[in-house]
Amino acid sequence: MDKKIEALQNRLDQARLGGGQARIDKQHRQKKLTARERIRYLLDPASFEELGILVTHRATEFGMDQQQVYGDGVVTGYGTIGGRLVYVFAQDFTVFGGSLSETHAEKICKLMDLAVKVGAPLIGLNDSGGARIQEGVRSLGGYADIFYRNVQASGVIPQLSAIMGPCAGGAVYSPAMTDFIFMVEGTSYMFVTGPNVVKTVTNETVSSEELGGASTHAVKSGVAHRTAPNDVACLDELRAVLSYLPQNNREKPPSVPFPLGEEWSESLTGLVPENPNQPYDMKQVIEGIIDPESFFEIHRDYADNMITGFARLGGKPIGVIANQPLALAGVLDSDSSRKAARFTRFCDSFNIPLLVLVDVPGFLPGTDQEWHGIIVHGAKLLYALSEATVPRITLITRKAYGGAYDVMNSKHIGADLNYAWPSAEIAVMGAKGASEIIFRKEIAEADDPQAKLAEKEAEYAQAFANPYGAAQRGFIDEVILPRETRRKLLRGFASLEHKEVPQPRRKHGNIPL
Ligand code: HXC
Repeated sequence: MDKKIEALQNRLDQARLGGGQARIDKQHRQKKLTARERIRYLLDPASFEELGILVTHRATEFGMDQQQVYGDGVVTGYGTIGGRLVYVFAQDFTVFGGSLSETHAEKICKLMDLAVKVGAPLIGLNDSGGARIQEGVRSLGGYADIFYRNVQASGVIPQLSAIMGPCAGGAVYSPAMTDFIFMVEGTSYMFVTGPNVVKTVTNETVSSEELGGASTHAVKSGVAHRTAPNDVACLDELRAVLSYLPQNNREKPPSVPFPLGEEWSESLTGLVPENPNQPYDMKQVIEGIIDPESFFEIHRDYADNMITGFARLGGKPIGVIANQPLALAGVLDSDSSRKAARFTRFCDSFNIPLLVLVDVPGFLPGTDQEWHGIIVHGAKLLYALSEATVPRITLITRKAYGGAYDVMNSKHIGADLNYAWPSAEIAVMGAKGASEIIFRKEIAEADDPQAKLAEKEAEYAQAFANPYGAAQRGFIDEVILPRETRRKLLRGFASLEHKEVPQPRRKHGNIPL
């Protein structure tokens, strides 16, 4: 028996060395942790149970039968984060560059199947040269097996992807179908075709970093939801986001104890400037409402005229969607609509109530927006909010103009509670634009057109640039003081906790993708 135990131990030791010390050293020189180091850091101490450590590939071509490495380039298993079960795979770049073989894919698929059956989040730590070139179509099939499972698991368990090295070709599509993508700055990249192919096909010269590095995807494409300066910080972010998420779509998100007092939000008084065109920081409104330091922003650097993120209110997770008057006056455009729509759908899938803060002057006009389909992109947000059945509360802080009033979680599209501050202006458009259209003739014929315009503007503002017309109709449930906002929202969400909405019978809706 001793000999047998020793033989097992030898195999396990060999497996844990992956592609060998030299390749581990290379990984460290590149400021990257190894797959096992990443898992060890990510999970609670000593909680990892590895599955499939002795698996090897079955390829024989190109001398592969002479190159067997236990684990086949991916470490898979389960453990806990903050005491809660998660399934995790980490590609091991030291073994065939973390490339995906048929066997490597089977290990990931087995893990995904378990995660769905058990109802626990799946985390993928990606660091791979893509399809295992020696295995041809078997490797492509392996990717597709994973893609298929990503889709089946979507909306059932949270799926998180960290990109911690290369991620190229069709390999990017598994992370793209998960809920959130985290990237490490400087050492990770994602693209469908790399710089060499780009050069050949389009004659463009571009570096990997510029084409698909973390900042490119965080700022320009919106593919990445968060970036971190190094592996450890990225793994910290994964742990942090999980604290807002339920284990699966049948559970509520986890609360943390939060003793409540009077809950006045004095910092909110006077935050909205007198001048309706003067910007202010909506993040200060968010901070004045939520539990201290509980905001976890999603897509911070992408479409920053819209803010999306998780927060806690009285210890309970909520999703926050807010126009940001500091950027493009908080206007709705294609990117910000898509950003908020995707976030809405995530929250709705996983029972996370939504708070929508509104200060929006309308949709962004112009050929650029129209030609890139703002009609369809704006419709995504309208659709996503309309179909969301989680508790939904709206607060209009200032402008709610035009179609954007409807879209931003209005009562008409199913919001449960709609509040406005006294500074709210709910109208088809701003007073100046409105007066120029409906009083054009009167203004043109006046002795002093400027004075007439000002007079008409004031008249229009008196009638519509306030929340009272909407409140009279019941489109706004209550006009509230800024300082009582947090109290109202705490009570509002508490009242909606057992909300239920019967669903019509259909296969699925047809969101304007
Ligand atoms: C097999 C691979 C591999 C791959 C890397 N390796 N990629 N083995 N299949 N796809 C091996 C290398 O041979 C090397 O082995 C080790 O991994 C480390 O690779 P290096 O090149 O030394 O590392 P580095 O210089 O850091 O460069 C990393 C890299 C480069 C940029 C990822 O390896 C690379 O360009 N690889 C090929 C990428 C690619 O074209 N993949 C296919 C994409 S298409 P040794 O033994 O020397 O350590 C695709 C389709 C998916 O993925 C479709 C899904 C639908």
